[in-house]
Amino acid sequence: MSTSGHALLLYCRAGFENECLAEASHLAHQAGLSGHGRIQPDAGFLRFQLQDALPWDEVARRLPWQDWVFPRQRIVLVARVDHLPAEDRVKPILDAVKQRGIKAGRVWFETADTNEAKELSSFLRSFAPHLERAFDKTGVMSKKPGAPTLHLFFEDSGSVEIGLSPADDAADWPMGIPRLRMPRAAPSRSTLKLAEAFLSLMTEREREASLRPGLRACDLGAAPGGWTLQLAERGLRVYAIDNGPIADSVLETGLVEHIRADGFTWRPPHKLDWMVCDMVEQPARVAALIGDWVASGRCRRSIFNLKLPMKKRFDEVQRCREILAGRLADTGQPWVLRMRHLYHDREEITAYLGPAA
Ligand SMILES: C[S@@+](CC[C@H](N)C(=O)[O-])C[C@H]1O[C@@H](n2cnc3c(N)ncnc32)[C@H](O)[C@@H]1O
Repeated sequence: MSTSGHALLLYCRAGFENECLAEASHLAHQAGLSGHGRIQPDAGFLRFQLQDALPWDEVARRLPWQDWVFPRQRIVLVARVDHLPAEDRVKPILDAVKQRGIKAGRVWFETADTNEAKELSSFLRSFAPHLERAFDKTGVMSKKPGAPTLHLFFEDSGSVEIGLSPADDAADWPMGIPRLRMPRAAPSRSTLKLAEAFLSLMTEREREASLRPGLRACDLGAAPGGWTLQLAERGLRVYAIDNGPIADSVLETGLVEHIRADGFTWRPPHKLDWMVCDMVEQPARVAALIGDWVASGRCRRSIFNLKLPMKKRFDEVQRCREILAGRLADTGQPWVLRMRHLYHDREEITAYLGPAA
């Protein structure tokens, strides 16, 4: 399966199409590729056309999922079918998939995450089983480990974009949206940001090594305690730093010490495994703080939120990367930095910084 000039399909929060375009242009350029995209404001997705003739999996390999910040998912498009007849939409899609020799481990029926697109969801619920049966019968579905995910993206009920993503290098949820349970004791919805960050920014091995009872953490800008609770629920002991109040439900875990102090000047009494930070502050100031903590060994790893109320969000993210790289340069150690505009983030992104395995 090798066609020329695949396009990327990038899902995002509506309103972040510009950031996706700036990032796609930047990453493509870095990977020695070139392409272009046209913004449809508030569409919730971006189509980025590549000029280079490469197999789909080579495109994905050159643009690895962990490098992306703003999209919720990156898919390599392999076909598009328009004018699907209302009386039989299955056959043209099945034909297009079979013609390209696609063997998929799973298939997801997707739309943009917008109110208009949500109207398609009842159509997709009734249509999907028909196509799934046809895929099963005709050998499109594969049990082979590593078989890619097949994405069927509907803008309306009459046309579909057909794309692929590698099984082990893409967001692991349909539409890139994790459905997370709100903990009963959570005092704020922002608790889900940290829960999502653990899942989408860290590997399983990193989670196992660092989210276990007995480890020590601090939470800068902790009130009312949603992030602190995520750490305490995993058995970590947490210094919760904020002049504001921490909810009783969080203090009742018995693992939290509330300290009324300024998160920029407070220092821990000993080295910590974790520092998390959700203070509403200028992103460059937060990036410098995180870089200083990690570089000085005050904490081993960090998850932090960067608020991006400005227009040029992609540029600001690049600036924060440079600040962090500058602070870490002298440590002589390899670090991983992963950043993402999470589903539970609004005008902000969340990042993980930790030791390279
Ligand atoms: C978005 S809220 C944090 C929500 C929290 N992550 C949760 O899940 O409940 C931001 C918090 O940062 C605190 N904050 C802002 N600047 C701070 C500073 N310099 N030192 C300590 N806390 C600060 C605010 O008081 C506020 O409670």
